[in-house]
Amino acid sequence: MSNRPKKYLVTGGAGYVGSVVAQHLLEAGHTVTVLDDLSTGFREGVPAGAAFVEGRIQDAGRLLDASYDGVLHFAAYSQVGESVLDPEKYWVNNVGGTIALLAAMRDAGVRTLVFSSTAATYGEPVSSPITETDPTAPTSPYGASKLAVDHMISGEATAHGLAAVSLRYFNVAGAYGSCGERHAPESHLIPLVLQVALGQRESISVYGDDYPTPDGTCVRDYIHVADLAEAHLLALDAAAAGEHLICNLGNGNGFSVREVIETVRKVTGHPVPETAAPRRGGDPAVLVASAATAAERLGWQPSRADLADIIADAWQFARRQEPTTA
Ligand SMILES: NC(=O)c1ccc[n+]([C@@H]2O[C@H](COP(=O)([O-])OP(=O)(O)OC[C@H]3O[C@@H](n4cnc5c(N)ncnc54)[C@H](O)[C@@H]3O)[C@@H](O)[C@H]2O)c1
Repeated sequence: MSNRPKKYLVTGGAGYVGSVVAQHLLEAGHTVTVLDDLSTGFREGVPAGAAFVEGRIQDAGRLLDASYDGVLHFAAYSQVGESVLDPEKYWVNNVGGTIALLAAMRDAGVRTLVFSSTAATYGEPVSSPITETDPTAPTSPYGASKLAVDHMISGEATAHGLAAVSLRYFNVAGAYGSCGERHAPESHLIPLVLQVALGQRESISVYGDDYPTPDGTCVRDYIHVADLAEAHLLALDAAAAGEHLICNLGNGNGFSVREVIETVRKVTGHPVPETAAPRRGGDPAVLVASAATAAERLGWQPSRADLADIIADAWQFARRQEPTTA
């Protein structure tokens, strides 16, 4: 990675992943401005040392100028279930907001972008592990909005020479320093199970136990948020003018819902009651990444792949939080 300190705009840097990446950028000696409307993020989540602007990406034109070396774009709505009930909200914010951001970047002459894409762009996988050349057929407006942005970025690279990397995260988990996962409402498995361990929820619902997997529950690829953050710094270096590189980010290992629950019991030493629930529509049996492209093009390797370690970090963070939900 180049040693020259740079100046970056981090959209959504008051949220979970954006705050951890902002912290990594600061630790690498860069200057960071966080732009966040606090719609799902938290002011106190913005790392010390980053400048904070409370505002929307739709208004990024007021902030961006040629002094910025690049943008890391996390700001989005990301609740799959909500997107099914209120798709317009997702098109307006995720797609509309990114159109405005790309225009602001073009006007300011800021030509490097790293974008948070998602495994949800693939939909039901045709094979496992999932590679970037697999078909994209999102099963929710959330996934569709992220795929639309990926297409927009490709166009921007071709037409206007943007240097862009989309990172398709699988299931991000764990915590880093004072930054951790805090969605409201929470929809991600590990923080939900930890809320049960903390006595903030009565039980964890297991949606379907008759999938074609070893224990019948869904299998997902959990990636430590600090490993993910390192990939963003590598992506900034790998970005090349006129190219839109797309990389999956995962460990290549799947863990079932039951394995996650059992590991939370072991790590926390608390009981975690389970409740059997029917399958949810649009939940694939197995979602596991091939991260071969990230290894080859970014030189990225995850180094915190042990599920118990990931959960232990998330547990340390969860214990420090106020209860968010009953
Ligand atoms: N957490 C995961 O497992 C995961 C997996 C795949 C992809 N992603 C993507 O990663 C990104 C970050 O996810 P997260 O889990 O940190 O979510 P998050 O909700 O914690 O963070 C998103 C941040 O964006 C801000 N925001 C939303 N719309 C905005 C707007 N128009 N203008 C300014 N700020 C706005 C929110 O206030 C929040 O701070 C999202 O784009 C998400 O789609 C996350």
